[in-house]
Amino acid sequence: MQIGLSMKIALIAGVVLLLLGNGFIVYKNFETEWRSYQKDYLAMVYERTTDLHMKEIIAARSPRIEQLVITGFGKERVDRCVTCHMGIDDARFADAPQPFRTHPKMPGNHPYRTFGCTTCHAGNGRGLSVVDGHGTGKYWTEPLLKGVQIEIGCAKCHPSPYLPETPVIRKGAALFHASACYGCHRIEGVSNGKLGPELTRVGTKWPIEYIRESIVFPRANSPLTIMPTFSLNEDDIVALTVYLKSQTGENLVRGPVIQYDSLRQWKARKPPDVPVTAQAGESVFRDMACRACHTVNGVGGKIGPDLSVYGLQRTKAYMIQHHINPRSLIGGSIMPDFDYSNSELEALSLYLSSLKKLTVDNAVVYAPVKGQ
Ligand code: HEC
Ligand code: HEC
Ligand code: HEC
Ligand code: HEC
Ligand code: HEC
Repeated sequence: MQIGLSMKIALIAGVVLLLLGNGFIVYKNFETEWRSYQKDYLAMVYERTTDLHMKEIIAARSPRIEQLVITGFGKERVDRCVTCHMGIDDARFADAPQPFRTHPKMPGNHPYRTFGCTTCHAGNGRGLSVVDGHGTGKYWTEPLLKGVQIEIGCAKCHPSPYLPETPVIRKGAALFHASACYGCHRIEGVSNGKLGPELTRVGTKWPIEYIRESIVFPRANSPLTIMPTFSLNEDDIVALTVYLKSQTGENLVRGPVIQYDSLRQWKARKPPDVPVTAQAGESVFRDMACRACHTVNGVGGKIGPDLSVYGLQRTKAYMIQHHINPRSLIGGSIMPDFDYSNSELEALSLYLSSLKKLTVDNAVVYAPVKGQ
């Protein structure tokens, strides 16, 4: 069968269109929102940079995903906000349009590397589009907090008694009493009202709009409610809403702030020099509360292995390496890092090497580990 010329042209045109279409889809996938923001940003930095060498480096850079991995404040967070918000710690961007503008000054010391963004702002740290990142799509329950709402974020780490720097929450807390909300609602540690639902965790239960609506117009969500309609002005409504949204029932007082502070103090401690003896090593073992997790000769905890015959199992070199960084030898180890001075490391290893007391009970469990 002969294919006519017009047929051939039509076929070729079809193939070309198909290729173009595919190419367009591939191009679309790569040309995502964050890329175009970053390209704009790079162009702006290029302009604001005078150093020629720096200019070259900037010109050679292609867009890439930037992220902060935040541990130490509840569950791990991966915050990619800085992929778009690239100028936040660059004073040259004070007048730049969003998302590039320098971050406004905040009270307290909260470096981005340690605190990330979603700790204060909520939103979806992994999102790479404005809708995903700000968590304003319908599948994300914690949309971006902005303006005075950010105090809800502050209260996660600075709960009652509230800081002077969170005036809106303080006002809300006062109104909760002044407007007699406390008479009908229980908030753990605040009030014991029983006529309405408990509000200790209302912040995790409902989105901010629902809480606001319940205050402004109690009948909206429950037509027969006995909750009265209050005459509150806009500022009062905002304060009560922000205050209630910050009620998550999580008692973080003993959490982030104290943990962070004690970790900082611990890290600032200069590990002392000790005599290099097994006896000094035993004191280190006791002072560092190793016994909280380890048993030696029948005394101690069970989270880590019994170390009663550890001296038969490992070499000194292994021990020292393990103490400097447990995860370098035992992947995913949950044993904490401690800071030791060199003499503490030596003494501790001497002490551990001296633990060889085989008993009928531990002989079976602790066969020596060959070669280590
Ligand atoms: C894809 C790029 C992109 C990502 C990712 C992104 N943002 Fe934004 N952000 C923008 C843009 C663009 C604006 C300004 C326009 C707007 O508000 O939509 C903005 C505005 C903001 C504002 C000001 C809002 C206002 O109305 O004043 C805040 C606060 C903010 N972002 C925080 C965040 C946080 C926190 C994250 C991460 C959880 C994040 N952004 C992730 C692009 C992004
Ligand atoms: C310790 C809390 C905290 C952290 C952490 C934090 N912010 Fe903010 N952010 C604030 C406060 C407070 C404001 C000012 C709110 C206001 O007055 O409108 C703000 C405002 C903003 C704005 C709006 C700025 C403007 O000019 O309107 C953006 C955008 C923003 N933050 C982005 C980020 C990004 C991105 C990160 C992470 C790199 C981050 N923030 C980390 C507390 C924080
Ligand atoms: C993720 C936890 C966290 C969040 C969220 C947070 N802070 Fe802090 N804040 C801390 C820690 C930890 C310190 C101690 C830091 C230091 O001293 O180096 C601190 C210190 C402070 C201080 C210094 C006074 C003091 O008590 O040490 C102020 C003021 C403060 N924060 C205000 C705020 C405000 C306002 C917000 C919200 C915009 C906020 N914080 C959000 C953890 C947090
Ligand atoms: C006379 C008792 C009474 C007082 C006073 C009262 N409430 Fe309520 N409130 C209720 C009852 C009852 C409900 C449950 C709605 C229903 O199903 O009837 C409710 C519901 C709510 C809810 C929704 C909770 C949920 O989980 O659905 C919020 C938020 C709320 N009240 C806030 C307030 C605030 C803020 C004040 C003070 C300004 C206040 N209430 C004063 C009785 C009261
Ligand atoms: C929070 C609990 C905890 C504390 C505190 C702790 N450990 Fe451990 N340790 C473990 C666990 C769990 C293991 C088992 C392996 C793993 O998961 O890391 C372990 C393993 C060990 C081992 C065996 C490593 C091997 O396989 O050869 C030694 C030795 C050890 N710890 C010594 C110490 C010393 C010394 C201290 C105090 C400075 C200490 N540990 C504090 C939990 C702890």
